[in-house]
Amino acid sequence: MAEIRTTGAAAAAWTPDSWRAKPAKHLPVYPDGEALLAVEQRLRSYPPLVFAGEARNLKAALGEVAEGRAFLLQGGDCAESFAEFSADNIRDTFRVILQMAVVLTFAAALPVVKVGRIAGQFAKPRSSPEETIGNVTLPSYLGDNINGIEFDESVRVPDPERLLRAYSQSASTLNLIRAFAQGGYADLDFVHRWNLGFVSDSPEGARYEEFANRISEALDFMRACGIEPKSTPQLHTTEFYTSHEALLLGFEQAMTRVDSTTGDWYDTSAHMLWIGDRTRQIDHGHVEFLRGVKNPLGMKCGPSLEPDDLLRLTDLLNPKNEPGRLTLIGRFGAGNVEKHLPQLIRAIEREGKKVVWSCDPMHGNTIKSSTGYKTRPVDRVLAEVQSFLAVHRAEGTHAGGVHFEMTGQNVTECTGGAQAITDQELGDRYHTHCDPRLNASQSLELSFLIAEGLKRERMEKVRPLPALASGF
Ligand code: TRP
Ligand code: MN
Repeated sequence: MAEIRTTGAAAAAWTPDSWRAKPAKHLPVYPDGEALLAVEQRLRSYPPLVFAGEARNLKAALGEVAEGRAFLLQGGDCAESFAEFSADNIRDTFRVILQMAVVLTFAAALPVVKVGRIAGQFAKPRSSPEETIGNVTLPSYLGDNINGIEFDESVRVPDPERLLRAYSQSASTLNLIRAFAQGGYADLDFVHRWNLGFVSDSPEGARYEEFANRISEALDFMRACGIEPKSTPQLHTTEFYTSHEALLLGFEQAMTRVDSTTGDWYDTSAHMLWIGDRTRQIDHGHVEFLRGVKNPLGMKCGPSLEPDDLLRLTDLLNPKNEPGRLTLIGRFGAGNVEKHLPQLIRAIEREGKKVVWSCDPMHGNTIKSSTGYKTRPVDRVLAEVQSFLAVHRAEGTHAGGVHFEMTGQNVTECTGGAQAITDQELGDRYHTHCDPRLNASQSLELSFLIAEGLKRERMEKVRPLPALASGF
């Protein structure tokens, strides 16, 4: 006889559309509901963007991060846009992430799991549903897959056709990334030589030179031992995964399919999906949707997250406590990490939960510049990462990764850094469709500075053997 267990509300049956019975924040209201349904129906018939097996590989790689044996580097645009869609743009973002990854791999002496905010990062939650300029008030811009950024009444109306365009842009982006990752562009020698170019061009380059030279020596040593990219696929190719905030649930549902090899549900719009700090209410639609797909998940953790809520969310999102399933991405703001992160770490440790701890040093450090631009000072971004590393060192837990908003372009959106971008210069190349991003050299600088912290963490763990060992 089958045993019948009573299930709590949280364990109620999940279906790809069970989120629709729950309240959900930050979902757009489409004026033409029929047109939206027709587009979602079409998307359902389109090929998946990623294969479930790849999402499982990423989960396994993140499992290594959770166990302290790897490091996560997640980065890319705040919001991808139709206007900035080009091969050069994709290439440059990809290249900078790889350049950062080399530095971090060397510093941590750990594999770096590379995940882009790319090939699907379109939809944005906004602090206000409306925007007023002068005496005109229009619906806010919500991301290129929903409406347009131009301050024009007809463009701001949510248009479902944009979902099809976002799908096709994501497919082309992912196609190019796969080609770069596997086709030779990610060759370790090339990537390192780009870093040497950065070091020689940067005003602060001398500070990074020693690090870069040591990587050169390591590569030379390996070459002398017969290990070089030409003969070693591990040095010639890389794995690169995609991710975005799973905000627009109708789209995510349409991309959610049963994996024929396991019978499990996967959201095939990206390898990894995360829940924003504004949509992580436990009884709401975003948490409901994501708990049912088997992809690795992220959850942004802001200052308002209490340890008890974190544990409830962790139980719901990762009921089997699988390492790699859940990445907790703190975004507290420089100066606030010490106040909020330790209690979350202690709660998770006390309950024996396996998670990846990552640090988003962007979203808690957004300010308005004296010239009116939304910006982020690079030194505050760095300060938040340093606090994150220090807190984990003190708690004895693994500082697992970082999550950046960046671009490979030479924009002027964040202040400071070696180029010393000032408030006055922000207007020169301020191109973002949403939040200010680190530019290429600010991103690389940060990777060198984080490397110094990671190296310190590593050196504390090394236990030397006796100088003169006897016997065999
Ligand atoms: N395959 C390894 C990795 O992805 C080494 C590697 C090759 C690499 N190309 C890379 C590392 C570019 C960082 C960046 O980690
Ligand atoms: Mn953002």
